[in-house]
Amino acid sequence: MRIAPSILSADFANLERDILAVSDADILHVDVMDGHFVPNLTLGLPVVARLCAVAPMPIDVHLMIEDPDTWAVRYADAGAFSVTFHYEAARDPRAVARSLRAAGVRASVAIKPGTPVERALELLDDVDMVLIMTVEPGFGGQAFMADQVPKFEALRAAIDATGADVWLQVDGGISRDTIATVALAGGDTFVAGSAIYGAQDRNAEVRALREIAAGVARG
Ligand code: DX5
Ligand code: ZN
Repeated sequence: MRIAPSILSADFANLERDILAVSDADILHVDVMDGHFVPNLTLGLPVVARLCAVAPMPIDVHLMIEDPDTWAVRYADAGAFSVTFHYEAARDPRAVARSLRAAGVRASVAIKPGTPVERALELLDDVDMVLIMTVEPGFGGQAFMADQVPKFEALRAAIDATGADVWLQVDGGISRDTIATVALAGGDTFVAGSAIYGAQDRNAEVRALREIAAGVARG
């Protein structure tokens, strides 16, 4: 069970401080938004490269940008551990995934709430993680969409059937109230922005979320 704090809810004037405040996290989730694929705009390559250099934990880049076919591999080169692109944005999703693996990072595909789980299932051979969005991408602090839970069950069954080392990530509305539902459905990697950065003790919140997920883990 991996916890990935999203720095979208951190203080952008104090990013290094806020990264060190979640040092108990397994990976750090960095949301790249371009103002086109999603209406919001956050940060890009130069900032990600510096975050990779100063963070004590691996960086999990979530690209909410157009043309990942061109840009995704540049984030691998910037030092990311894992790069997630959106299926909906890619001209050739399989080629993007393969180019990420060739660049030496974990390749990951994300699907929006309206995208059928089959689009991710078809790519399982070529990815190391699937990200299921449980909010419409673009903003932190939105409500968890419980109607997305069957996607985790479908992917968990498919991943277990192959035995491949594919992680199953959830992003959107994860908190102490919602994390168990996803863990039960087979999720193993949990992004949380507002729940962690809204807490008084951020590291304690990371540990609390991990404990809840581990407590309901199947098997
Ligand atoms: C939203 C981003 C998320 C966001 C999650 O599009 O992809 O990573 O930070 O925020 P919370 O955990 O507050 O829903
Ligand atoms: Zn995200």
